[in-house]
Order: sequence, then C-alpha cells, then structure tokens
Amino acid sequence: MAKHHVSATVNGDEVEFLCDTEQTLLDCLRDELDLTGAKEGCSSGDCGACSVMIDNRLVCSCLVLGVEASGTSIETIEGMAQGDRLHPLQQKFLEHAALQCGICTPGVLVASKALLSKNPNPSETEVRYWLAGNLCRCTGYDKIVRAVMDAATEMRGA
Ligand code: FES
Ligand code: FES
Repeated sequence: MAKHHVSATVNGDEVEFLCDTEQTLLDCLRDELDLTGAKEGCSSGDCGACSVMIDNRLVCSCLVLGVEASGTSIETIEGMAQGDRLHPLQQKFLEHAALQCGICTPGVLVASKALLSKNPNPSETEVRYWLAGNLCRCTGYDKIVRAVMDAATEMRGA
C-alpha cells in the first residue's frame, strides 16, 4: 500500500516523513526521524515511556498514528535542552540521581514539564498523581518526585 506523506513540526522544526497507515507516531519518531528519546515500553498506553506533547497536550505516542500527527506541533525530549543548557527538570534529575536505567526518564521528563506548565507549584500529591501514568522500575519514585518539586521551586524563582 502507498505510504502517507506527513508534514508536522517537531521541536520547532518543520519535518516531513512517509509512513504506513498502521505506523504509530512513536515508530515514526524513532524510525523515520531518528528521534529515539521516546521509548517503547508497553505499546499499550500503560507505561508512559513514549510520552510526547502534541499541540501542548501530553500523549502516549504509541497510541497515536503517524498520520494523525499531520499538521500538528510535536515536542519530544530532544527539544527540552536548549543547546548545552539543560532544562531545570533535567538538571534536577541529575542532582537528585532521579534516574537509573533511563528507559522511563524521557517520558517522565516530558510529563513533568507538562505538569509544571499547567501547575507551577504542585503539591507532592499532585506530582505523584500526575506521574502515575509513567512507570519506573528502578528508582522507586521518591527521587523523581523530589527532583520535580525542586525544579518547580527553581522555575518559580523561589
Ligand atoms: S510505550 Fe506508550 S505507554 Fe508504554
Ligand atoms: S530509571 Fe529505569 S525504569 Fe525508570
């Protein structure tokens, strides 16, 4: 079957790619655009490792078809740092050692950024609820939550 031609914006850059009808956005990002930050954990919307933003909405890219991304603006983990300057969330994850294997980390960071853009001063409970869809098998979550709270404080300039 003929491939679909998709145009979208990814991390501020206009991109075009060809994809099959059944190809997920996650696979398009990884296989067609070489953006391998988003990870495939479950392929069923349960782990959050594939989290990206589409038009400012947090989504599991394993549940979105590549063709559905046509005309949208997508943000991935690759767009989070500005050149050599890490985003405060990335810096705090390093300082708090909030990652181990790193499979979940891109999705946790993208989801955390989405949270702080909506709620710059979340409670610990709100952070835990927001990140409930991002599974991590390594860190036990406490360091992740502390890093997000610390980044929120820094980003508020408190
Ligand atoms: S790979 Fe998409 S939610 Fe797990
Ligand atoms: S750091 Fe390994 S799954 Fe989260």
